[in-house]
Amino acid sequence: MSTTNPFGKKGWTPDRIKDLSGKTFVITGTTSGTGYEAARILLSKDAKVVMLNRNPKKAADTIAQLKHLLGNKIDVLNITMDLGNQDSVKKAATEVLEKVDRIDALMCNGAIAQTPNRQTTEEGWEMQMGVNYFGHFTLQALLFPMIEKSSGRIVTVGSMGYDMGLKTIKFDDLNWDKDYTPNDAYSQSKLAQIMSMYELNARLKAAGKTHVKAYACHPGSSRTSLIATNGSFMMKLIFGIMKLTPLTQPAENGAYPELMCATEPDLDQTAFYGPTGRNNWTGPVGPHELKPHAKDKAVAKRLWDLSEKETGVKWNL
Ligand SMILES: NC(=O)c1ccc[n+]([C@@H]2O[C@H](COP(=O)([O-])OP(=O)(O)OC[C@H]3O[C@@H](n4cnc5c(N)ncnc54)[C@H](OP(=O)(O)O)[C@@H]3O)[C@@H](O)[C@H]2O)c1
Repeated sequence: MSTTNPFGKKGWTPDRIKDLSGKTFVITGTTSGTGYEAARILLSKDAKVVMLNRNPKKAADTIAQLKHLLGNKIDVLNITMDLGNQDSVKKAATEVLEKVDRIDALMCNGAIAQTPNRQTTEEGWEMQMGVNYFGHFTLQALLFPMIEKSSGRIVTVGSMGYDMGLKTIKFDDLNWDKDYTPNDAYSQSKLAQIMSMYELNARLKAAGKTHVKAYACHPGSSRTSLIATNGSFMMKLIFGIMKLTPLTQPAENGAYPELMCATEPDLDQTAFYGPTGRNNWTGPVGPHELKPHAKDKAVAKRLWDLSEKETGVKWNL
């Protein structure tokens, strides 16, 4: 891959976003971090934003804060959805389809990370896999008809963690009954999220539905609530120290890759987008290297087929 950033030395920034009146963006997890920043920037460009959050009180506070910042005229609503509960995801998807008539981009941003002890969802999935991957898989499939009608996009917020765990999907023990570690389980969920975007691209192409786009990106190392919400004491300590150093960037910068993937025309769907500085933790946003295991076709196909079976949700491709 070329080392030249197509967006110049500073990389992609939201200055490139034009007026978004008439466009609708659906974002998961906007009560803090990159999701909040992405929602704020989209609203500042006059988009309609539908937030999907699990905590109604936090969501109401978020909306109040955004109105305080941007004025009462902003077009924003929250629909309650817990990504870790498939019934809740299905109910929220139905509500989204009732409340909007187009989806220009579904931004799969919400997540938990580094859960210290193994937990499972009601469906029996390991919690990070259930929330980050299966929750979004179902949401994407159920909103796909409207995204397709709108010639819209699906944007997945992954992580450089995709390259920090087993570097494949643990099909023989998907839910970590054995050998659970917070990092391996988180990394698998993020790898699965990324792999499913490239697999979706292949399936869209095969179905002749190239007017729908799917992109994978990540926010680098950003100062958000991610570790504080769920991580162990040690992880909180380590990330707390990292937050004081230039190894991390403001949450706003972490929102740029997903905003770019949601709005920028003519992006390469085979690329992986994020900060292009050291370790891809900070720096100008653009396309950068993705290790081949994230595009292992056989693993991706097996994961997709298994995901349709596990969730019972079939994509209408
Ligand atoms: N920060 C980083 O350095 C970093 C690095 C790599 C990847 N990422 C990725 O960046 C994305 C955004 O994370 P962030 O760093 O901005 O973290 P954050 O500040 O913790 O934000 C995460 C958001 O997801 C929501 N969420 C968590 N569990 C949920 C569930 N079950 N259902 C619905 N929403 C849920 C949270 O809601 P609550 O307020 O209710 O908890 C919050 O709004 C994630 O996909 C994460 O994996 C972040």
